[in-house]
Amino acid sequence: MVTQDAKNNTLLDQPDSFGWVSIVVHWLTTIIIIALWFIGRSIAEQDSVADIDARRGLHVTIGLTVWLLLLFRIVWRLRMHHPRAQGQSLFIHRFARTIHYTMLAGIALMMISGPVMVLFNNNTVTAFALLVHRNVASAMLALVLIHLGGTLKHIIFHEDDTIVRILWPKKR
Ligand code: HEM
Ligand code: HEM
Repeated sequence: MVTQDAKNNTLLDQPDSFGWVSIVVHWLTTIIIIALWFIGRSIAEQDSVADIDARRGLHVTIGLTVWLLLLFRIVWRLRMHHPRAQGQSLFIHRFARTIHYTMLAGIALMMISGPVMVLFNNNTVTAFALLVHRNVASAMLALVLIHLGGTLKHIIFHEDDTIVRILWPKKR
């Protein structure tokens, strides 16, 4: 049963809004994932083997440091469920939610395939993990662009509180 205290708690999500935990974690992990993406793509562009190793080392260090935070982000969304999009049809709500959950699944695949590459010396396993890591990274780029497109659509055409609700919790 949802108590009045839980309903007024701005840390937690509500059926129609995100709470502080979701908001802070969304922006923190957005910065981290974008940084990991660019550092990851720059590994192969380095001129020497030493530079490639250093850049890969940086990527792996950041990836492993934030691993638990990324896991928390996924578990938190699954436990909190997804607040309903406001003023939108059920179809749009479901579409946006599907993109969000697919991005979370992409993050999970990156979190598994990355460490597998580091832990296994077996060429076949490592090659498969790299294939997954590379393709999911490309898919994530496409999904984030769709996500940004959705956000812009709301800002330009709907002038609703979609961007506001991922910046601070709704006042009650
Ligand atoms: C959401 C988080 C992550 C993102 C967005 C990401 C992104 C990328 C990208 C774009 C690449 C370059 C792939 C290519 O060659 O085209 C890469 C490579 C790599 N990533 Fe990640 N990564 C993430 C998490 C991790 C984690 C947690 C690890 C684990 C330790 C990891 C380990 C690696 C390694 C070892 C490579 C280099 C593969 C090689 O030798 O070419 N990544 N990553
Ligand atoms: C790596 C980049 C990003 C990822 C993986 C991502 C993922 C997500 C996910 C999974 C949600 C659902 C709530 C949650 O679990 O946090 C969400 C919500 C949201 N995101 Fe992002 N996001 C990213 C970047 C951005 C950026 C750059 C913007 C805007 C400039 C943005 C705007 C929003 C908005 C407005 C919502 C709320 C949508 C709603 O009300 O249903 N996101 N994002």
